[in-house]
Amino acid sequence: MSLNEYRTHYAGKLGLDDVSAEVVLSGWVDRRRDHGGVAFIDLRDKSGIAQVVVNDEEVARPLRSEFVLKITGIVSKRPSGQENNRLATGQIEVIAKTVEVLSTSDALPFQVSTALEEATDDKVGEDVRLKYRYLDLRRPSLNNALRLRSRLNQVARNFLDKQGFFEIETPTLIRSTPEGARDFLVPARLNPGSWYALPQSPQLFKQLLMVSGFEKYFQIARCYRDEDFRSDRQPEFTQLDIELSFITTEDIYRLTEELLRELFRLIDIKLPDTFPRLSYADAMSKYGSDKPDLRFGNEIVDLTQYFKSTPFRVFQAPFVGAIRYPGGASLPRRQFDAWQEWAKSRGARGLAYVQFTEDGLTGPVAKNLSEQERDGLLEASGAKIGDAIFFAAGSLEQSRNLLAMVRVEIARRLGVIDTELTGVPKADAKILDEIGKPPFGVTRGSDGRVWSLLWVVDFPLFKSTTKSDDDDISVGSGDWTAVHHAFTLPSDLENFDKEPEVALSDSYDIVLNGNEIGGGSIRIHQADIQQRVFDLMGIKEDEANEKFGFLIEALKFGAPPHGGIALGWDRIIALMSGTLSIRDVIAFPKTGGGVDLMQNAPAIITHEQRAETGVDAVLEHEDA
Ligand code: AMO
Ligand code: AMP
Repeated sequence: MSLNEYRTHYAGKLGLDDVSAEVVLSGWVDRRRDHGGVAFIDLRDKSGIAQVVVNDEEVARPLRSEFVLKITGIVSKRPSGQENNRLATGQIEVIAKTVEVLSTSDALPFQVSTALEEATDDKVGEDVRLKYRYLDLRRPSLNNALRLRSRLNQVARNFLDKQGFFEIETPTLIRSTPEGARDFLVPARLNPGSWYALPQSPQLFKQLLMVSGFEKYFQIARCYRDEDFRSDRQPEFTQLDIELSFITTEDIYRLTEELLRELFRLIDIKLPDTFPRLSYADAMSKYGSDKPDLRFGNEIVDLTQYFKSTPFRVFQAPFVGAIRYPGGASLPRRQFDAWQEWAKSRGARGLAYVQFTEDGLTGPVAKNLSEQERDGLLEASGAKIGDAIFFAAGSLEQSRNLLAMVRVEIARRLGVIDTELTGVPKADAKILDEIGKPPFGVTRGSDGRVWSLLWVVDFPLFKSTTKSDDDDISVGSGDWTAVHHAFTLPSDLENFDKEPEVALSDSYDIVLNGNEIGGGSIRIHQADIQQRVFDLMGIKEDEANEKFGFLIEALKFGAPPHGGIALGWDRIIALMSGTLSIRDVIAFPKTGGGVDLMQNAPAIITHEQRAETGVDAVLEHEDA
């Protein structure tokens, strides 16, 4: 049996069946140990590890961690008592006959050995690991995440292929498409002063493919957005991008649910037959977020009416809301002080609180509350003796936003949701009960991990451009900008532009454990409606024609009704892998500052490159 000259077998696949066989293995020295003139080499290849015994001291002496070796040897059963049950090949070892060094390795910047993995995670800074990303990828946790990613790609492709989808690549040097983020731009050498944009998503191209009549499109698409980067955001990321013709929202829900069930089967999770749906309005009023984590309950309570005529300055606000902290009454003062700082560092003015004890409501704010306010507050919040209650007062938007963060942070501190990579909640049944049961069913894996999936539906069509949130940028110069994007179908075609502030859209997001893992909509397929939406967004006909003329024109040539969704592929894989950062499921990610530490990108370009690509062309022109 021979694979090729480098190996007859994979190290990790050897077992008792191979005993007495002469094998050729190639791989890396994961670890070496010495015992009285005998060296034990853990030889690692992509399949796993086998122990190789090198009896010749001369041969063994130069071998170091991560050397690349080719070994010939005889498989033998390990002496009784020396088996290693934690290793798949732990019943055997390979007695080396020849050892050839194919490649040496310098001393490593950090350990990559399977056996030492945990030590590396704790001790080595992420910067060093990103600089030597190719070494970090040798470690099992990152390596396994990318293997899972590869398999998920295949599952998605097979699934969609079977459903009659076409996988079509769309360009990445394009004219800017507005998705609400900043574009990355690329100078066009042949047209000095002109720039391409990298796509924020394939949105317009997939719509045009519907006009072309493909009816079912998908792509594992790279997208580029110049945003502020966080653990769940990278400047370049991947979407599983889908578009269909002649469908309704129900078809898209069904397809997405089926696809996710198929994907989760790979990690032995059986997702439910249908996922619950929550309107955007309910999500905001109950949880303060359009991506609520519903692995637990604990709704926000609106106390505005109880404090309508309060003399307490802090609560004289358009909105006063509260959230319960089960068992929080006994927290020491310094922890409440720390919460104030926590809230301030998130842009809030403070985080008022009361403690509900045997003696009634206590804490610094309690004295400001009337009897009536106390009663109202306790009734509305459902607080029990032993709980604390946190308040946010201010604008509806800001207060809900703060309470949403407090809600999740409380759950984290109580161990109701994971903060660590295991993903398994640590809280006991009593706390789970006290914080409130999940409003919809959740899925619990055999490993204890909890999965809560839901659709958030009935999004508003527009949001006011004067109330800008996070770092989205408004598209158009009007008072209104699209919540999803400008190509989303208004639910009420008659009235949407008469009452933009209440107009809803046929769009939806899918949320997993408090993460937005995808979003989409039914699109506008009629040019006149598209122009009405542009008008409202302050995109005049001239401007619309200049920027999206091709789309408006295409809509005039028999555009079918169509819609679709894009799944945040990195986020889904990160959650499935049990990591908190999408960096861990991207082979060569960027830092929070958008830097590739290995390549040192971005980099300053030379004068010659500037001249050649014409990046200064317009400036020179303007100066003249
Ligand atoms: P949207 O902008 O909601 O929709 O993007 C779809 C999904 O992509 C993921 N995502 C990101 N993941 C990592 N890093 C980022 N910077 C990042 N930005 C977004 C999220 C999000 O839900 N064209 C539309 C889809 C459609 O209408 O069909 C779009 O791009 O998980
Ligand atoms: P002060 O009287 O300003 O010391 O505030 C009393 C308490 O209310 C403190 O705990 C503040 O952190 C808190 N606080 C101040 N402003 C707000 C607000 N807008 N929402 C909630 N709590 C607040």
